[in-house]
Amino acid sequence: MTSREIRQKYLDFFKARGHAEVASAKLVLENDPTTLFTSSGMQPLVPFLLGEKHPEGKRLVNSQPSFRAEDIEEVGDNRHTTFFEMLGNWSLGEYFKKEQLSWIWEFLTKELNLPEEKLHVTIFEGNEFVPKDEESREIWKSLGISEERIYEYGVEKNWWSRFGTPDKMPSGEIGGPDSEIFYEFTQIKHDIKYGKKCHPNCECGRFLEIANSVFIQFKKTDEGKFEELPQKNVDFGGGLERLTAVVKDNPDIFQTDLYLPIIKITEKYSGKSYSSPNCIANLRIIADHLKAAAFLIVSGVIPSNKMQGYVLRRLIRRVAVKMHELRGNPKKGEIPTDAFEAAIADAVLLIYNGLFGIEEKTHRELVVRVIVEEMEKFGKSLEKGLNEVKKLDQIDGKAAFDLYQTFGFPLELTIELVKQKGQTIDRKDFEREFKKHQELSRGASVGKFAGGLAGHSEVEIKYHTATHLLHQALRDILGSEVFQKGSNITPERLRFDFSFERKMTEDEIKAVEDLVNKKIREDLKVDRKFMTFDEAKNLNAIGLFDEKYDKSNVSIYAIGPDYLLDSNAKDQRERGGYYSLEFCGGPHVEHTGVIGGIKITKEEAISEGVRRIRAKLL
Ligand code: ALA
Repeated sequence: MTSREIRQKYLDFFKARGHAEVASAKLVLENDPTTLFTSSGMQPLVPFLLGEKHPEGKRLVNSQPSFRAEDIEEVGDNRHTTFFEMLGNWSLGEYFKKEQLSWIWEFLTKELNLPEEKLHVTIFEGNEFVPKDEESREIWKSLGISEERIYEYGVEKNWWSRFGTPDKMPSGEIGGPDSEIFYEFTQIKHDIKYGKKCHPNCECGRFLEIANSVFIQFKKTDEGKFEELPQKNVDFGGGLERLTAVVKDNPDIFQTDLYLPIIKITEKYSGKSYSSPNCIANLRIIADHLKAAAFLIVSGVIPSNKMQGYVLRRLIRRVAVKMHELRGNPKKGEIPTDAFEAAIADAVLLIYNGLFGIEEKTHRELVVRVIVEEMEKFGKSLEKGLNEVKKLDQIDGKAAFDLYQTFGFPLELTIELVKQKGQTIDRKDFEREFKKHQELSRGASVGKFAGGLAGHSEVEIKYHTATHLLHQALRDILGSEVFQKGSNITPERLRFDFSFERKMTEDEIKAVEDLVNKKIREDLKVDRKFMTFDEAKNLNAIGLFDEKYDKSNVSIYAIGPDYLLDSNAKDQRERGGYYSLEFCGGPHVEHTGVIGGIKITKEEAISEGVRRIRAKLL
């Protein structure tokens, strides 16, 4: 069975059970200032899991390209990746545990023909707020799974939220207990280095998690407790790469058709074989990173030193370093050639051709160009790095780490260099620096996520609606050439980037602020509407719209109707009388009055023709 067949079987299976197939989101949500990447299928569905009505109904299914930057250091074994495809199905307050567990069991055992005796299941053991999941246990038993193949785990393993365990969830965040299915590779012997007894969550490699049914039924309160959501949801996720591997009873996902073509090309260009124990990790890292890079590029990301661009830069530079490691110490001219990148781009795009808006012919040139340019830039910085190394008298662990950070020098390479100078590097010093940095960046990424709308805290939602008012007010005061370029929200402030050629005057800033505050005082109603893209355009809806979304059904937030409609305001009449009409997935406050008011604290240039405003709630 190919990965394409498995994907299609899954979609068909759930469609036959009343699920609507919804378009997957892009890897980078342009209209969502709160997260860097789409990292699971449920992410674009949060408002609906919270109770909002989804236009396609209460049963949804899709396959969602997902990216988890935080897993970058884990890649190299047979199962971890940064990019993966998540098969997902959802019940928005409709069916619950019985249907979900029975269906997914049926799909795995009847559609994919996985042998029942190799499947093991886990349930939540309960904690102070949420009792043990006896209901799931009884369902599994009724499906013929014997007691000894049903395992209980605590919050570390059998609780799911976007932030992880309950204690890490911010207030307002949703989550719940889950029930997972593991595949057992009986050909792999348990390694006692991982513990006396093997079990599904053992790290020895005998078991692989392939299915996760999350019962999203709780919301964290401001007091740190858990309250029931108005509806009990199912959020299912299963990695297509892993499912494709277990269908072949092969524990190595890189041996599936989702990676093999990429691995083969890398073997050819590096001259190294996947069967060589010294090379296998690097070949896997290159395959994962280049695939992820291609998806990010198709999503509109370009390498830079900030945000998504920085992650893309890291992926590409890591590939260059790994390629160097495979081919020996870097010499000029040994940086991977354009032919390699072109071959890889072809391979990745062909694997996904016709899916997720990817067209091999359309995207090839772009993907190759971006990767080649970045590799070239890296080549130059590598040379600079080598010169730096020559200048240094003593390279200690910290300096080695700086070289790793700044120029992407792997430790092994630095050790080789300094060896020639008759010096040694204390590996522990390097590792200490590395760990310190890892903790910092983990903190930063969690902080980034927590600080955004993803938290759905009241204050962030207020800022989000204020951003819409600000966008329209800027257009009213400065002219309709003003257009959103970016936006970012934390519980402390909003930040809004927009196209405008010059510095705003004090008067203009004041006028914009006054207008936003006037609209807040008018306590306008905020409404979500669904319409076709053409209808929205005819109504002059503003904001960022991603061409890849379903144009027959777009989500718009309308602020108004404005009872103070000024009969001279042609622009506003064209918006159907609404003060603001914007492409957006929400969430928002219900009436603008609750925002209270805003103060613009800063206006500055961030690049040619782009200004940035920061504002705070009063
Ligand atoms: N959202 C769940 C996960 O990511 C299904 O595992």
